[in-house]
Parts: sequence; C-alpha cells; structure tokens
Amino acid sequence: MNINSSGSRSKSKKKTPNKRLLIYPICLLFVLFIFILSYTEITKSLFSNPSSNALLSLKFPQCRSRNLGEEKFLWFSPHSGFNNQFSELKNAILIASILNRTLIIPPILDHHAVALGSCPKFRVLDPNQLRFQVWNHIVDLIRSRRYVSMADIVDLSSLESSPKVKMIDFRVFAMLWCGIDTNLACFDRWEAGFSLFDKLKQCGSLLSGMDGNAGRCLYAVDEDCRTTVWTYQGDDGILDSFQPDEQHKKKKDIAYVRKRKDVYKALGPGSEAGLATVLAFGSLFTAPYKGSELYVDIHDAPKDPTVRSLFEKLDSLTFVPDITNAARDFALEKIKTPFLCAQLRLLDGQFKNHRDSTFLGLKQKLESLKKNGVLPVNMFVMTDLPEADWRNSYLGELAKDSGNYTLHNLRERDELVVLTAKKIANEGRGMRFGSKLITTKKISCAQGVLPDILLYIEEAICSCALLGFVGTSGSTIAESIELMIKNGVCVHRGF
Ligand SMILES: *[C@@H]1O[C@H](CO)[C@@H](O)[C@H](O)[C@H]1NC(C)=O
Ligand SMILES: *[C@@H]1O[C@H](CO)[C@@H](O)[C@H](O)[C@H]1NC(C)=O
Repeated sequence: MNINSSGSRSKSKKKTPNKRLLIYPICLLFVLFIFILSYTEITKSLFSNPSSNALLSLKFPQCRSRNLGEEKFLWFSPHSGFNNQFSELKNAILIASILNRTLIIPPILDHHAVALGSCPKFRVLDPNQLRFQVWNHIVDLIRSRRYVSMADIVDLSSLESSPKVKMIDFRVFAMLWCGIDTNLACFDRWEAGFSLFDKLKQCGSLLSGMDGNAGRCLYAVDEDCRTTVWTYQGDDGILDSFQPDEQHKKKKDIAYVRKRKDVYKALGPGSEAGLATVLAFGSLFTAPYKGSELYVDIHDAPKDPTVRSLFEKLDSLTFVPDITNAARDFALEKIKTPFLCAQLRLLDGQFKNHRDSTFLGLKQKLESLKKNGVLPVNMFVMTDLPEADWRNSYLGELAKDSGNYTLHNLRERDELVVLTAKKIANEGRGMRFGSKLITTKKISCAQGVLPDILLYIEEAICSCALLGFVGTSGSTIAESIELMIKNGVCVHRGF
C-alpha cells in the first residue's frame, strides 16, 4: 500500500511540476512565524511582572479608570453555604470599617459552588484561586439571572446610620471597575451578548490576584488561615497558640507558622496595601478552634468606640422584614399555637454521623413536652430529608402518631414562599447600595429566576418556636437560629 501510494505521488509530481506550490510552505512558515511572535507577546504581557503600571493600565483599563474616584474598596470571597457566607459578611463589614474602605457586597453563592477546604488541616484553596472561582461563579449568576444580593436577604439598613460603614453592590462596583455600560441588575439578555460576560471574567482575573498586586490598583491579600490570625488593637506579630503539630508537619510536609497580625497596621493607611484602590481578601471565614480563632480574632476594639459599637449591630443582623414577616405569619396563621422547631440535617455527608444523636435529642425533648404539655405537640420540621423518605425514620413514626404530634413544614412551591420571593425580587434592596453612582437608563427587566428563599424563612420560623429548638450539632444553621432566638427576632403575639 505504502509503496504504491508513494509511487503514484512521485508520478504525479513528475507530470505536473508546479513551482507555485512552493509558495504554500513559505506562506505557512510566515504564518507560523507571526503566530509565534504574537503568542510570545501575549504570554509576555500575561505573565510579565505587573510592577510596570503603564503595561497594566493597557491590559486592565480599570486601573486608570476615574469611575471610582478616590474611593477605596474591600473585596472578599465568600464560599460554602449561606450561613457561612453570612458570617463572613459580618467579618468583612467589621474589617472594612476598621480600614475605612467601602465594602463590596457580594451575592449569595450557590451552596456547593465554591469550597475552601479545611483550615485546621491546613488544606485550603489559595486566596488567588478562591477569588478567581468566586468571581467567575458570580458572573455565571448574573448571566443566568439568578443573582441575589446578600443585601436582598440580610437587612443591612441598621448599618447605614453607622458613620464608618460604607457599602456598594457588587454589580455597581463591577460596572464601574470594568467599564461596563450595561446595567448588570437589569439587562436584556440579547442586548448584553456574550462579550459582556467575557469582559467581566477578564476583568475579574485581575482582581483574583493571579498576576500579583497591581500598583495602586489592587492589593491581593496572600495571607490565609494557614499563616495568619487577624487582630485589631491587640496582639501583633506574635505566634498564635494554634500551630500545625509536629506529626502533621512531617506527614504533610508543611512549613506553616501562624502569626497574629494587626489588620490595621498590616493593611491600613500607611501600608502598601493602604494605597491600593481595591483590597481583596480571600476567605474571611473564622471559627473558634483549640483556644484560638481560625482566621479572624477581632472581638474588641479598646481604643476605637465606633468599631466597638459595631459589634452589637453585627450581632443582631437578621433577615429583611419580608422574610421575618412571612415567618411570623406562618407561625400565627398556620401553626397557630406554640411549637417546637427541629432542624434535622440528615443527608449532608458532614452530618450523617450525627443522625442518631440528633434523633435521640429530639426524642427526649418530645417525650418531656408530651408529659408536661397540651396534646398534640406541634412541631415545625426543617429537614433535607424528602417527605417520601420519612416513612423509615423517626419522623415517619411521629407523622403517624397524629394523636400526640402535629408536624408542619414548608415547601419551595408553597404560596407563602413564592409570594415572598417575588416581593424580594421586586424590591432589589441590594441595588440601593451605590446605584446613584451609575447612570445607565433602566431598561425593562425580563423576570429573572425567583430567589430560593425557603431556608431563610424556615430559619426565621424556627426563631419563633416558643417550645424550643432542636438542631443538628455542628451545623451553622443551628448556630444562626440560636442567635436569632437570643436577639428576639420573632416577636410573638396572639398565642
Ligand atoms: C475615610 O475615607 C473617606 C473616603 O471614603 C475619606 O474622605 C476620609 O477622610 C477617611 N477617613 C479617615 C479617618 O481616614
Ligand atoms: C400518645 O402516645 C402514647 C404512647 O406513647 C399512646 O399510648 C397514646 O394513645 C397516644 N395518644 C393519642 C391521643 O394518640
């Protein structure tokens, strides 16, 4: 075969000796040359040392943009579930006010979109990667019209009176920073086109810090929970009490040392970070751990009364009135009597091994209510276990025993949930933060996807539970419900 085909080719060559054919390899070489040339130019500009501001402002026009004026901003990358994101938001508000920066309010990210990893085990995403993933996820939320601002759900109005708290909606910030004319809160899908989202993603790659810091444009915080615990007006520069243990260091070959650092001294005015228009953190998640904090240990501000007064406000932040009112209506009009709330997280892998202990706690609570109270005992159940699967569990037993127990729950399609979601979508409270800064005319919005607010209403209902609350231990949902109960979010009347 081979011999044959090569034979026929040489024959044809002989037949038609055509010198013009030579032009093709030459052209090809030329194209290749141009390609290599431009490719090295592109990669050079992509990976070059960004200390050259001229080059940077060519690549990132937003760095010389006057749109943002003299204002300085703080960005962080929330992740994991809602309550995790909420607790990070509180840290972000606190740090932004300490650093006198305008906080960019993020949207609520999908629960499983971005995970940080485990800090106690020193296995976490680098801040750069985290920022990159979060930005891209947010662009996807905008594109698919599923964007719900944290400020649509969490009532931030109590902070607006604080002189040191300044906030801007992510979409407003992105429009200014990326030089986008399209109103990201309200755009026509076809008019927007694909280039809009490409532009947004490209613009986010700067903010991720993948290219390092960018002069006075961006300071991307490298420190994370493996190396740093942020403090304020307390310890500075000393070792934290929680360090990776020797065994861990050897086994995983890690060299982390955790230091306590004053956030104002490290990143405030007078520091290199203090000059940058945008200061970008990775995660701001923290939790008490082994006598210390995982990442942020700011619980006091001895010399700063305005920050001190902020702690209380942050502690009592809760859902917007649409949600707390819906919860109250459900308690008064549907349950109509004092009730117990059970938060049973049964399918989430992290909580599966708490299943038996959670049910045991619930059983004890119910038995005591049954003995001492009026029958039937009313219970509101928030659970990830679909009702069809209750049959084979303790919940199934309770549901059958209708003489002793009445169970209530709420579903996504229930009228109360849908109506509340519509109200929240129409109000668009998030855009109150900074919309004065943009001038795009409001085009008529096609209805976006309704926000998924079931969890928030459920949590608020649980805060109305006069007979008590049984939660899944270790769940941040349980924590936040307990905080709402403490703050008396649900004022009951009529029972
Ligand atoms: C805080 O920032 C604002 C700009 O947003 C500036 O006008 C003001 O002087 C700053 N305050 C302090 C104490 O640095
Ligand atoms: C309540 O439960 C007990 C068993 O614990 C049962 O004997 C009793 O009949 C139940 N009461 C009603 C009203 O169903």
